[in-house]
Amino acid sequence: MVIGGMRGMTGLLWEPSLLDPDEGIRFRGLSIPECQKVLPAAKPGGEPLPEGLLWLLLTGKVPSKEQVDVLSKELRSRATVPEHVYKAISALPVTAHPMTQFATGVMALQVQSEFQKAYEKGISKSKYWEPTYEDSLNLIAQVPVLASYIYRRVYKDGQVIPMDDSLDYGANFSHMLGFDSPKMLELMRLYVTIHTDHEGGNVSAHTAHLVASALSDPYLSFAAALNGLAGPLHGLANQVVPGFGHGVLRKTDPRYMCQREFALKHLPDDPLFQLVSKLYQVVPPILTELGKVKNPWPNVDAHSGVLLNHFGLTEARYFTVLFGVSRSIGICSQLIWDRALGLPLERPKSVTMESLENYCKKAA
Ligand code: MLT
Repeated sequence: MVIGGMRGMTGLLWEPSLLDPDEGIRFRGLSIPECQKVLPAAKPGGEPLPEGLLWLLLTGKVPSKEQVDVLSKELRSRATVPEHVYKAISALPVTAHPMTQFATGVMALQVQSEFQKAYEKGISKSKYWEPTYEDSLNLIAQVPVLASYIYRRVYKDGQVIPMDDSLDYGANFSHMLGFDSPKMLELMRLYVTIHTDHEGGNVSAHTAHLVASALSDPYLSFAAALNGLAGPLHGLANQVVPGFGHGVLRKTDPRYMCQREFALKHLPDDPLFQLVSKLYQVVPPILTELGKVKNPWPNVDAHSGVLLNHFGLTEARYFTVLFGVSRSIGICSQLIWDRALGLPLERPKSVTMESLENYCKKAA
């Protein structure tokens, strides 16, 4: 396990979600189809509002529509990104990878950290969660503004679109990116919801949890997570086509299935969707025949690009930023609980190859 990426090794507490290899992700016990049923939507029968999932991840309770509306408003009131953050991003070449610009922006946001200020003033440990909560809500509120600024800077000649105070979190993100069709707003709500969290062991979540265990504030921890998400074996995988297999899952990813259902409902004739459907039939038997592949089934990344592409968001190099915006919700929910539970500094034991060999000899 120690030389095999710690696969399957239990090592951390993660409250918002749990991944079952066969069933896929459950958010506070609820599967994706259950979340689609019980979480409030913008319109009856529509996709869940990501703010509703944030409420669920934080509290373990399904919110009412009124509660979600209050949270939407609260997030909008926290969404102003300080001017210096735009300047920090503008100091990078426009050709810099969007994830580099995103992580830089989050680091620049860090100067507003309430946790850091409170810690410097000597806040007691039992209250750590309070400024962590403030930082987390501010961060979650501001990342869509930051992310859409980067999109407009890189792909739309810097023509920034301001937030619309009448829109919810997912819809506003789509609007600020420049996509206002009602179906795209629904897609963004679904996209943000399903990418929020995938238990604690994935690279970005695990990184944030580790960094936060040093009492680094949510901005520092989430920026570190983004640097992990920017790796091609993690979030950057959504820039490319395949999307088959997974480190934990052993069946088709339910995040794939709900995107497939969205496509069947809204874009059944899209030629790229038809290609993705065909791959779903053709690829798993071929991978199974190879005899070495543990999971021949498609994951979330096998579908997301096709949906975005259909509505005009075609810049694949940007896709991981969308993933990162969503993940702020899951990661920050856990960071608040890390501090509320008073979880300690992470400091696992490592071994050398020599000590491993000695251990095996003794065991033999
Ligand atoms: C994720 O959503 O983080 C990915 O599916 C990777 C993982 O769970 O390990």
